Amino acid sequence: MKTNAENPEVSRTAGKGMVVAAEAEAAKVGTDLLNAGGNAIDAAVGVGFALAVTYPAAGNLGGGGFLVGSVGREKSQVDSVALDFREVAPQAATESMYTEAHDQGKEEASLTGHLAAGVPGSVDGMLHALDRWGSLPREQVLAPAIRLAREGFAMTERTHRMLNSSRTRDRMLRYRASADLFYPEGKAFPPGKIFRQPELANTLELIARNGRAGFYEGEVADHLVTEMKRGGGIIRPIDLKTYRCVEREPIRFKTESGNAITMPPPSSGGVCLAQISRMMENARIQVSEAGSPRHLHWLAESMRRSFADRNTWLGDPDFVDCHLERLLDPDYLAEKAASIHPEKATPSTSLVTEETSPKESEQTTHYSVVDKHGNGVAVTTTLNGSFGSKVLVPGAGFLLNNEMDDFTARPGVPNLFGLIQGKPNAIAPGKRPLSSMSPTVCLSDGTDNAEEVLAVLGTPGGPTIITNVFQVLYALDHLKLSPELAVTMPKMHHQCFPDRLDVEKSVPQSTRDLLKVMNHTIVTRNSIGDFQLISRMYRSKWVGISDPRGAGSVSVQ
Ligand code: GLY
Repeated sequence: MKTNAENPEVSRTAGKGMVVAAEAEAAKVGTDLLNAGGNAIDAAVGVGFALAVTYPAAGNLGGGGFLVGSVGREKSQVDSVALDFREVAPQAATESMYTEAHDQGKEEASLTGHLAAGVPGSVDGMLHALDRWGSLPREQVLAPAIRLAREGFAMTERTHRMLNSSRTRDRMLRYRASADLFYPEGKAFPPGKIFRQPELANTLELIARNGRAGFYEGEVADHLVTEMKRGGGIIRPIDLKTYRCVEREPIRFKTESGNAITMPPPSSGGVCLAQISRMMENARIQVSEAGSPRHLHWLAESMRRSFADRNTWLGDPDFVDCHLERLLDPDYLAEKAASIHPEKATPSTSLVTEETSPKESEQTTHYSVVDKHGNGVAVTTTLNGSFGSKVLVPGAGFLLNNEMDDFTARPGVPNLFGLIQGKPNAIAPGKRPLSSMSPTVCLSDGTDNAEEVLAVLGTPGGPTIITNVFQVLYALDHLKLSPELAVTMPKMHHQCFPDRLDVEKSVPQSTRDLLKVMNHTIVTRNSIGDFQLISRMYRSKWVGISDPRGAGSVSVQ
C-alpha cells in the first residue's frame, strides 16, 4: 500500500469545503462547484455526474445509490436526509426468473447481460437532491460532466487495469457497444490517452436540458428500451416513466461524540451499523487494545450476529416489514451481545443455517463532501459489479447495472458477494434489492440546528462496506485514532456465512494465530475497501483522507 506521504493528494486539510472521491477529476468538479457558490449538495450532484464519465466501473447513470446528508445550514434550517435512489425490479420481473434462466443454461443471468439490470435510479436521485437541497442551476452542475465526456480526459491507470482483467474483458467483449467504446481494436483503452464519450455527452446534455424526462423519456429511454428488446432484457418504457427515488428517515444511533445518521432499508447498512455499535459497547475495548486479538474477536462476533439478522429480516421496506423496532431494541441487542463468548468464536450455524463461499469484486464508489457552511453529504453509488451488467446502451453511451443480483436471485445460492439472503429480499416488480451501501454522517451532540457535522464516511466493497464503515467510525469515535490511522489501519470482515474471518494481510501473524486459537477460521485478503473520509472530530479544520488502497483524491476549496 502506498503511504500518504508518497501521495499528498490522498490526505489534505481545509478550513472551507472539501471533496474526497475515488477519482481526481470528479473530486475537482465538486470543489469547482463549491468555489462557484454551490453548497455540498450541488457539489455532490456534480461529482456524481462526473464520476459517471471518469470512473465508468462504478460511477454511473445506469445504476443507483444512496445519499445521506446533514444539510441546509446556509438557510438556518438543518435537515438530516436519506435519499434512496436504488434501482427497482422491472414490472415484468418474477421471483423465479433467475432460477428459470439458470435451468435454461443461462448461468450468469443475474450478473451479466440485459436481464441483470434493474431500472436505473441515479439520474432521478441526483436531480431530486439538486432540486430539493441544492442551490445552483441544473445546467451549471452538469456542465463539467458534459465537458469531460465530450472533450475527454486521460484514461486512468485504474480503469485501464480494471478493463484489462480477463474476467471483465471476456464479458465486456460480448456486447458490441461496450467493446467499441472500451476496447478499440480489441484492446483495453490505453492509460494516459484521451478518452472521449460523445454519446454519453449527448445523454448528459439531454438531462441538463430536460431534467428527468431527458433520461426516463424520449431519445435516451428509446435507446435503452430498444437495447433491452434486442438483448432479451425486460425494462420497458413504463418502468422508466414510473421510477421515483424515495426520501427516507435516516437511521440515527448514539456515538460517543454525538450521533451518527446513516441509511435505512433497503440498505442493510444503517441497521447493521447501529447493531454492531451497540454490541461493541459491551466489549469495553481500551484504546491500548486497538488492533488486538480481543478487539478483532469482538468485532467479528458482533458482525456475525448482525449479518445473521440482515440476511434473515431485511428487504425493501415498501414491500416487507423489516422489524426495525425489534432489530434496534437495546434489550434485544444486549441479549445478542451477552451471547458473545469473550474467548471463543460462535459457529454461525448456531445462529442461522446456510453456508457458502464468497466471491470478491471491485465495485461501487463512495464520495464525501463538506462545504463552508458546515453541511456534510455522503453518497455511495453503484452499478453493482465492476462495469455492472457490461451492457452499454448503444446511442446513449452509459452502462447498465447488474443490481438484480442483490436480490435473493436464486434462493439458497450465494450472490456476487457470497451472501445467502432470505425471503424478505425476494424479487417482485417495483421492489428494491437489499443493499450494503452505508453512507454515514457523524454529528456532534445537540438538537437540530445545534448539531455540527463531525465526519462524513463511506467506502465501496459489497458487505465489507458495513464492516469497514463501522471500523473507521469506531476508530475515530471510540479509539480516538487520527483520520489517517482510522482509514489505513488493517481491516477485517465477518458476514456470518461463510463462517470465516477475513483479515487484510497487514494484520500481524501473531494476531491471526491468537484468533485461530479462539476458533476463528482466518482468510487473508490483499485489501478491503477504498474509503473516502472527511473528519474534524478533534480539530477545527477538515481532514480529508482518500484511502491509499485505491487511487482517489482529496480536493480542497
Ligand atoms: N451492490 C452492492 C450493494 O448495494 O450492497
